[in-house]
Amino acid sequence: MSCNKGIILSAGEGTRMKSTMPKVLHKVCGKPLVQHVMDQVRAAGVENIILIVGHGAEDVKAAFAGTGVEFVMQAERLGTGHAVMQAKESIPSEGDVLVLCGDTPLITGDTVKAFIAEHEGQRNDVTVLTAVLDDPFGYGRIIRTETGEVRKIVEQKDADESERAVKEINSGMYCFDAALLKEKLACLKTENSQREYYLTDIIGLSVESGKKVGAFVVSENEEIIGVNDRIQLAHAEKIMRGRINEKHMRSGVTFIDPETAYIDADVVIGRDTVIYPGTIISGNTTIGESCVIGQNSHIVNSSIGDGADIQSATVLESTVGKNTNVGPYAYLRPNSKIGNNCKVGDFVEIKNASLGNGSKAAHLAYIGDADVGENVNIGCGVVFVNYDGVHKYRSVVKDRAFVGSNVNVVAPVTIEEDAYIAAGTTVTVDVAEGALCVGRQREEVIEGWVSRKGLLRK
Ligand code: UD1
Ligand code: CA
Repeated sequence: MSCNKGIILSAGEGTRMKSTMPKVLHKVCGKPLVQHVMDQVRAAGVENIILIVGHGAEDVKAAFAGTGVEFVMQAERLGTGHAVMQAKESIPSEGDVLVLCGDTPLITGDTVKAFIAEHEGQRNDVTVLTAVLDDPFGYGRIIRTETGEVRKIVEQKDADESERAVKEINSGMYCFDAALLKEKLACLKTENSQREYYLTDIIGLSVESGKKVGAFVVSENEEIIGVNDRIQLAHAEKIMRGRINEKHMRSGVTFIDPETAYIDADVVIGRDTVIYPGTIISGNTTIGESCVIGQNSHIVNSSIGDGADIQSATVLESTVGKNTNVGPYAYLRPNSKIGNNCKVGDFVEIKNASLGNGSKAAHLAYIGDADVGENVNIGCGVVFVNYDGVHKYRSVVKDRAFVGSNVNVVAPVTIEEDAYIAAGTTVTVDVAEGALCVGRQREEVIEGWVSRKGLLRK
């Protein structure tokens, strides 16, 4: 394939987003708009990407630093043609160049690939990706000759009545012969209603000089939708979400209601996993096979092992082992490492701590900054007291230890293997292997007290 360069226009301000953030950094299914475009361009085999940046350039550059894209600055926004002119030095002298917009996240790699194949197969000098819309308002119109050849593109604001009636529109994606693009960029003028350099004028200029110009009509109109405001952003999100969930269903994941499962673009889910309503699975998350992700679970940048059961829980930047049950109402904060066959029950919070295979914290506990071994029992109401108001400390609980209910483990302490901590104990010293640690005052029972106080109610 001789098209190995893609120019993505991303310098515009995106005024209608009403945002302090550059438009192309707004996210759809967890990924910036322009990243969707870059990923699909790469999926189509176009390796070298130039991002034209302008508004909020520093933020855009920071977001994609180290990803191998080349940034070209467009200091003044004088139109789409002017944007491409800025990349003149980077346009090769032969081969083809793809140009597209950074705000069309729904374009697919398959369409980009088919589009380039059409351009090359037809031996075109220029090909434009078009769509036929019931409501073409706002888009540039594709004006054809009586015999159906592409003649030029006319912008909405410059079109006369008959041109406005045309329903075939310019998607803003093109494939150019690189040498021709360079030549024609130098010919662009700003004689139009917006006083801008229109990239679209290159179509007419190329036809005039006898070049072969073609159009490729997209089969799914939604692929060319541009995001200009938050309403279109939500619309794009909904379409993308549908695609993502469909992809998972095709590969063997059950959704009780795909309309209400919110799964980011790069999440991996194993087969026979069941996803319940209200689930949010974000970022770089991997879910194993045969898991149950129960209603209203929120899982971010985490890894969940095969056969795990997550119920109404929040899991952030953590790992959960195989066949482990989490929730309902458990909270795994960053850097929690839960082993296989564990139980993390209701109202258990874990932070920066590990729980070895087979260990259980069934209810109402806080395990922070701790290394808990295998087959340990953490009773109801156990608190790992990790903070003295100034510093945080870690505690260690080794294999098969039993930590009774309402125990405070005041860090830093080590509870050795097979030790028992009696219910209600506050542990401030290390506990030896196999020892019992009990620290509580004996209670007193005062007979007849209630009646002596006149409190008896029977
Ligand atoms: C453009 C096309 C129009 C097409 C439509 C498809 C032109 C003249 N018109 O119109 O035919 O139907 O896209 O959505 O090309 N940009 C820059 N620098 C600039 C101006 C724009 O980088 O100086 C970028 C924007 O960030 C955006 C893209 O180019 O990503 C398109 O610009 P926009 O102003 O939205 O063009 P439209 O008026 O929608
Ligand atoms: Ca636009």
